[in-house]
Amino acid sequence: MALADLIVDACAARPHPLVAVRHEGSWGSACKPQRFTCDDGALYSVKFIQNRHGDGRGAFNEQVVALCGELIGAPVPPVRLIEVPAALTDVMNRNPAAYLLDFAPQPGIHHGSKWMDDCSDRAGVEHVDENRQRLGSLEVLYTWLICRSDHQLIYSNKTPREVYSVDHTTFLPGEFNWNAASLLPEYAIVVPDASFQGKGLTDADRGPALDRLRRVTEGEVAVVVSRPPDEWGYRLLTGSRSPSTSWLGATVCSTTTSRPPPRWLPTHTHFFSTYPTPSGTSASTSGC
Ligand SMILES: Nc1ncnc2c1ncn2[C@@H]1O[C@H](COP(=O)(O)OP(=O)(O)O)[C@@H](O)[C@H]1O
Ligand SMILES: [Mg+2]
Repeated sequence: MALADLIVDACAARPHPLVAVRHEGSWGSACKPQRFTCDDGALYSVKFIQNRHGDGRGAFNEQVVALCGELIGAPVPPVRLIEVPAALTDVMNRNPAAYLLDFAPQPGIHHGSKWMDDCSDRAGVEHVDENRQRLGSLEVLYTWLICRSDHQLIYSNKTPREVYSVDHTTFLPGEFNWNAASLLPEYAIVVPDASFQGKGLTDADRGPALDRLRRVTEGEVAVVVSRPPDEWGYRLLTGSRSPSTSWLGATVCSTTTSRPPPRWLPTHTHFFSTYPTPSGTSASTSGC
């Protein structure tokens, strides 16, 4: 099946958003995330698409990067779409300072990251021996989708100090201002993420994620790129006035990867075969 058709199917099968039921606190960081208990009973850190850090595209980056992380087994808290009803945003808009807000949150569908209890705040690459494959897979994720700044790893406060990657707003070349022109030249080059170098991570640590990346199917790609809902502004992303769903999804996909959809997988074959080992020589694909 052509990727565009897979995307049509994936759009039709998008999971329903969770619904936020209770506000549980605010963070004063860049996106002013708000925590909500949702109707699955779990707690989520929610970034409103109106937040001023990300220009509406930050939520796209957050969803897509986290879902790609999930595909390759990287430790990224599960992401969901969260519908925040007007009853909750009305309360927030009546007293923005109490919610540390610098924008007016609107009811609708927003980005949510499942809250990992009892974790540290952001830190660098640490606790390597407790996290070899987790960090190895994050090195693959950060190298694959490119994070030039603002790396944010958090660690469980209990032992083992398990690592999670959070805050993927600034991934992709051009960060949330990415466009096809900013992405295109970058994906031909594989430069291991500098933050993970010199930490003692080995090919064996990266191996399971690279192996999984090699086996990513077009159907899985379709599910990832079709997850951001239409109301997040695909028209802004594509410049189209009234795109059909299939054209829309395929355009988002090709924009995201900067390549026509059928070339997506060969692109990643290129990634495996050029991934350098720490010594600078090319890694063998068979060892991944
Ligand atoms: N899913 C999560 N589970 C636990 N802690 C989280 C999660 N997401 C974010 N955090 C914590 O909240 C802080 C702020 O969230 P972040 O996503 O970085 O927002 P911002 O984009 O505003 O910087 C992070 O530095 C981290 O400490
Ligand atoms: Mg942050």
